[in-house]
Amino acid sequence: MELSPQLARKFETLQNSYPAKRSALIPMLMYAQDEHGFVSDEMIEEIARRLDLNTVQVTETLVYYSMLRRKPLGKYHVQICTNVSCMLQGGYGLLEHAKRRLEIGHKEVTQDGVFSLEEVECLGACTGAPCMQVNYDYFENLTTEAFDRIIEYLDLGRNPEPVQVISGALHPRHPAETPLISKLWGIRDSHKIDVYVQHEGYAGLKKAVTEMTPDAIIEEVKTSNLRGRGGAGFPTGMKWSFVPKDSPKPKYVICNADESEPGTCKDRPLMEMDPHQLIEGIIIAGRAINAHQGFIYIRGEYRYVLNIVERAIEEAYSRGYLGQNILGSGFDFDLLIHTGAGAYECGEESALMESLEGKRGYPRIKPPFPAIVGLYGCPTIINNVETLSAVPAIIREGGEAYANRGTRKNGGTRLVCVSGNISKPGIYEVPLGFNMKRFIEEVAGGVQDGRKLKAVIPGGSSCPLLKADEIDIPMDYDSVAKAGSMLGSGGMVIVDEDVCMVDLARRIMQFYAHESCGWCIPCREGTAWLRKMLERFHAGAGRPEDIPLMGELAKNMLGKTFCPLGDAAAMPTISIVEKWRHEFEEHLHGHCAYKSAEALVRSR
Ligand code: FES
Repeated sequence: MELSPQLARKFETLQNSYPAKRSALIPMLMYAQDEHGFVSDEMIEEIARRLDLNTVQVTETLVYYSMLRRKPLGKYHVQICTNVSCMLQGGYGLLEHAKRRLEIGHKEVTQDGVFSLEEVECLGACTGAPCMQVNYDYFENLTTEAFDRIIEYLDLGRNPEPVQVISGALHPRHPAETPLISKLWGIRDSHKIDVYVQHEGYAGLKKAVTEMTPDAIIEEVKTSNLRGRGGAGFPTGMKWSFVPKDSPKPKYVICNADESEPGTCKDRPLMEMDPHQLIEGIIIAGRAINAHQGFIYIRGEYRYVLNIVERAIEEAYSRGYLGQNILGSGFDFDLLIHTGAGAYECGEESALMESLEGKRGYPRIKPPFPAIVGLYGCPTIINNVETLSAVPAIIREGGEAYANRGTRKNGGTRLVCVSGNISKPGIYEVPLGFNMKRFIEEVAGGVQDGRKLKAVIPGGSSCPLLKADEIDIPMDYDSVAKAGSMLGSGGMVIVDEDVCMVDLARRIMQFYAHESCGWCIPCREGTAWLRKMLERFHAGAGRPEDIPLMGELAKNMLGKTFCPLGDAAAMPTISIVEKWRHEFEEHLHGHCAYKSAEALVRSR
């Protein structure tokens, strides 16, 4: 097959970038699709030939990922998010408007082939809800009028000016905020190496490679009480210490930038406005476990962010912070950014490694844990973007100073992205342990339009929901767990008194049923049945026996799956059915006193 010179060059680079050739498969498919609009049979054959695979291996991987397609779509592919944060700000109304305006339905193409439309899951722009992507461009805080304008511009071949930096990250700082990892946000050219170096950039790396032993780095991170910011909250230093020092195998560091937990959009600004902080954190992690290769696995939708980080990696190589003999220390480290292709499941660490190896994102059975048997069967640590972004400050200022910014056992600061029915949606950096009620009322301006608070999703849609009288608690891992929920990924969603909880539960379950990889029966069947029952209630056809059955079914999913997706689907459902049971009972009589998501349309 004849390839364009650019694509041929890209393929050559990718084929030679990984320790195992197959790892290049998903990026090659994505770049091929970018150029051709879809992945053809000929392209599958070409990629298979280049990677020493057969076409079945390529196809069975391709069909797993939602962003990869076998048929062409419109020149402009319009993707509208209806997940929780967007739903609460009129995402469904926007979708219906788009269907009317474009005269097409979900996954259809206009007759002239210019536009296609798709309802999609969380795009990582929750603080700018409702939002959409057109191809890779983001548009946030949409109204129906703004949508029409964008379509008109595109139709005329003009640039509708997409979002450059996620809205919600550049608000005036609240006095209660303590910017540490977000301190460069809003500074001109903060993504460039010169600006980063002017603000103590790479000082932590210098100290780590010239003054500290790997063990001393791990001890410093342990002292900092840094806990994983991706959701699980596992102590980072302890995770690093599990990597066997005497293993003769290569060791790897992976940064999990597959941010896709609904309600969460804080890794995106960390990468778009301060990529060097993340790169520095990854190199220090590599030094701590004696790894010489790192990867950043970034979600497929974040293509413009990938481009920013890729340029930052090149800058770091050119200044001697990456590559051979870093800063004359004798330590070598290489870093590669790798695109995903649309699969929530790949946010789970073992599924992510499978995906990075060029396969379907199925979770692995644990133990063994990645620190012992990880990528390519070698010791591997996987940390989230926010976790690794905190590492330079820990090394620079010392673990104790960092720990003192938070509370005992919960060191440092935390990015909270708050969205939904809130007056000032945004991404805020506060000390761990900051009071949740005060955060919502003072920092984020309280519930939108003076309405009353009904519920809070504290850290992404997989967390049990808290009622309005349960939120006077410190926002740290242990206190939120004591209150019956989780700090999770930092994606806080505010739900006001007018929202129908049956509808909310239905939308949350729709997501998990869609994203279940189908490997474990309790997850595959459980999410499908729960979705069916919740849709029945929402349509006014619920059965009384379904109320206890939903709770029971969800409880039976807990702890019975290879990865946490089964738990993630079950936990919010259990809390909604238990805490807002009366709303389900009202639906039995065909009565809903609340606003259905479809009824919300944003218009000026
Ligand atoms: Fe719509 Fe996150 S971008 S819910």
